[in-house]
Amino acid sequence: MKNSTTIGFIGAGNMAYAIISGLINTGFSTENIKISDTNASLLSLRKQEFNLEVFTDNLALACCCDVLILAVKPQVLADVCQALKGALKPNTLIISIAAGVRAHDIDRWLGGDNAVVRTMPNTPALLNQGVTGLFANKCVNDVQKELATSILNSVGQSLWVSEEGMLDAVTALSGSGPAYFFLMIESMAKAGVALGLDEATAQTLSIQTALGASMMANTSNESPRELRANVTSPNGTTQAAIESFQDQNFEMIVTHAMRAAFDRAGKLASELSDSD
Ligand SMILES: NC(=O)c1ccc[n+]([C@@H]2O[C@H](COP(=O)([O-])OP(=O)(O)OC[C@H]3O[C@@H](n4cnc5c(N)ncnc54)[C@H](OP(=O)(O)O)[C@@H]3O)[C@@H](O)[C@H]2O)c1
Repeated sequence: MKNSTTIGFIGAGNMAYAIISGLINTGFSTENIKISDTNASLLSLRKQEFNLEVFTDNLALACCCDVLILAVKPQVLADVCQALKGALKPNTLIISIAAGVRAHDIDRWLGGDNAVVRTMPNTPALLNQGVTGLFANKCVNDVQKELATSILNSVGQSLWVSEEGMLDAVTALSGSGPAYFFLMIESMAKAGVALGLDEATAQTLSIQTALGASMMANTSNESPRELRANVTSPNGTTQAAIESFQDQNFEMIVTHAMRAAFDRAGKLASELSDSD
């Protein structure tokens, strides 16, 4: 990323905070980061935290940036974009992190022919452990794609999809995925309590097991399937548990749940598209 690239954030909330922290931690200068929000007290907090230029007027921010990150809630994005129509510098790269709002709609609200990258980050971005799916519309050039990659990589990893529809699958997997793991942690801790452990012990065992297993899956040369086979001795305790999961059709339960998230993501995108 060129040190002279100016990045503006519209919306100074949690995700903006995470990405700004990531950018600064990876060496990006605060002089080239600007932020706008309707919430004046949040803006003064961000100014205190990061010592960067803040705006209460989105237009004033937008016309001086090379990259504009749309970090407001999906429901207000149409209004935010329509108010910027015709005001952006030529070749401004728009990066939206708003869940479920299509690149085509963002481009349309901004007046057309804009370079738009739509992303689907997830909550672990708040700890620099996120994973983000990205989609670029046809106006985005290779340099802008690299720029978007380095911005989102500052809060974890990022992966491009070639069709926008695939972002609904990303939403169903990694976007909503942290909640699936929280459910698993919660359920295992509850089951531990049912087996006689006290709550605090069961919770620590459950969380640390999830963390350890995830780190093993991330660092090992073996696939999750092989790692599972390695810890599943014939006729042992793990095999008894895995067989019980399989008797209840665990894979099908996961497939159905993710299909429900995928369908819902498509429906929400259509609703947000119609809402302008
Ligand atoms: N949090 C996550 O884990 C996560 C994960 C993936 C994607 N996302 C997406 O990231 C986006 C931001 O999420 P967030 O959690 O950071 O939200 P957030 O904390 O609510 O931040 C959004 C900020 O935008 C402000 N705002 C509202 N209207 C505005 C306007 N017209 N102009 C400028 N600022 C305005 C809000 O002020 P008020 O509070 O006063 O309205 C708020 O300070 C959302 O679209 C969400 O879908 C979030």
